[in-house]
Amino acid sequence: MTIVSFVLFLGLVRQGNAQQQQQQQNHDPSENVPGLLEWIQSLPNGFVSNKITIPQDTTTTTSSSVHSLSASNVFLFAQTDITKNETVMYIPTQALIGQEKEVAGRNCPMLRMILEEYDKGTESKYYPYIRFLLGRQNVDGDDGIRKATTAAWSTKGQALLKTMVGRELLPYKFLRLCTSKCPTVCSDNKDPKRQQLQQDAYLIVMSRKKSGLMIPLFDFINHRNGKWQNVDMEIHTDGVRVYAIRDILAGEQLYRSLTECINCGNYKYKYVTQHVLQDCGFVEAYPRRWVVDRGNTKESLVAEITVDKDDNGEERVLRWPRDNRRPTMEELDWIQTQLSLLRQLNSTMESGLVDLKSQHERSVIEEYYLGYMEAMELVMMDSEHGHKQSHEMSIEDAATDPNDPDTDSLDTNNVCQETSVK
Ligand SMILES: *[C@@H]1O[C@H](CO)[C@@H](O)[C@H](O)[C@H]1NC(C)=O
Ligand SMILES: *[C@@H]1O[C@H](CO)[C@@H](O)[C@H](O)[C@H]1NC(C)=O
Repeated sequence: MTIVSFVLFLGLVRQGNAQQQQQQQNHDPSENVPGLLEWIQSLPNGFVSNKITIPQDTTTTTSSSVHSLSASNVFLFAQTDITKNETVMYIPTQALIGQEKEVAGRNCPMLRMILEEYDKGTESKYYPYIRFLLGRQNVDGDDGIRKATTAAWSTKGQALLKTMVGRELLPYKFLRLCTSKCPTVCSDNKDPKRQQLQQDAYLIVMSRKKSGLMIPLFDFINHRNGKWQNVDMEIHTDGVRVYAIRDILAGEQLYRSLTECINCGNYKYKYVTQHVLQDCGFVEAYPRRWVVDRGNTKESLVAEITVDKDDNGEERVLRWPRDNRRPTMEELDWIQTQLSLLRQLNSTMESGLVDLKSQHERSVIEEYYLGYMEAMELVMMDSEHGHKQSHEMSIEDAATDPNDPDTDSLDTNNVCQETSVK
């Protein structure tokens, strides 16, 4: 047998396996959650607190997907009160993908490994996790991984978003294909199903990796900043400890932060609402941070919009988190121009949105459009009120943050990121 035909033969066997698995696995991934929990708890040091619960009724949570990280609509909640620093889960090393030296933190080797594990089927030592990740091969693009990043959106959805942001607003780019990013892994066959699997697996790596690792269960925890954030993680030699960063009340959803976590360095100003949209495919829930200048300098102008309760209900509040830096006259002019352009797009957006097949894309793009305008409107209002409030303290004093080096490791820190940080 020549080498070429041998490789071909191998390829056929693999594809056969993959198709078989696809049929077996073609159901809602949340059905695989109990198996995943059981698996983690069966490993040495594996621990999942019985104080957390993962509702299995996915229909009730789907509507919140505009704001959700977890494309699978799996969310974690506190079932009873949890105290600060309590361990909510311990994911042992054996369950982590990516700690091997040749894989660590590198996207393409990690992708290769995940595909290899997928091909092993039930023989894979990561089977419960892989089954969850790649279990659903959906067709309409409105579920699972394919809505989890704008890279996987429909051409129309991407085009509408591009129209909206024009040349000057963020994000600047959307497209990320496995075949161009990891050609040695993804260009080796012509089977469309296999290609889709490779692309899905690639997006999974890009959107779920944290600190260079794929961390099962932890990666279900949704993202939200501000007072909502309640858990964080630390890496130990034998696993990852996920713990409460404050007291958590029964019924609260567990939230981690992609941008303001303990090991996230300078991300809190560099990786904001616009990047979360680009890489993770959702509009973050308040508080939101928007880069409100061209975003082409290191010291970009960051506005934070959050919700505060007043007597009349919810109120949007603007803050300047970055050393209280506010816009210059020139920047205000630019913001005013962009805001007018966005407002003029109203009917274009309306007809464009109606035209989208995916409910998810429609909701997310609309929310992003309204959110961008809201942020810029608040900035303009703030400037009209003059600099009366300039004595007001900014919410964070950057000087008090020793863990905030300018040269953070952008490649390894975050979940939904690639190279989008300017
Ligand atoms: C938090 O909990 C961990 C693990 O139980 C413990 O080792 C650590 O000392 C605790 N930290 C504090 C500040 O109490
Ligand atoms: C366009 O403007 C109308 C009237 O102000 C508003 O009701 C509608 O929600 C806007 N459409 C979008 C897509 O923002």
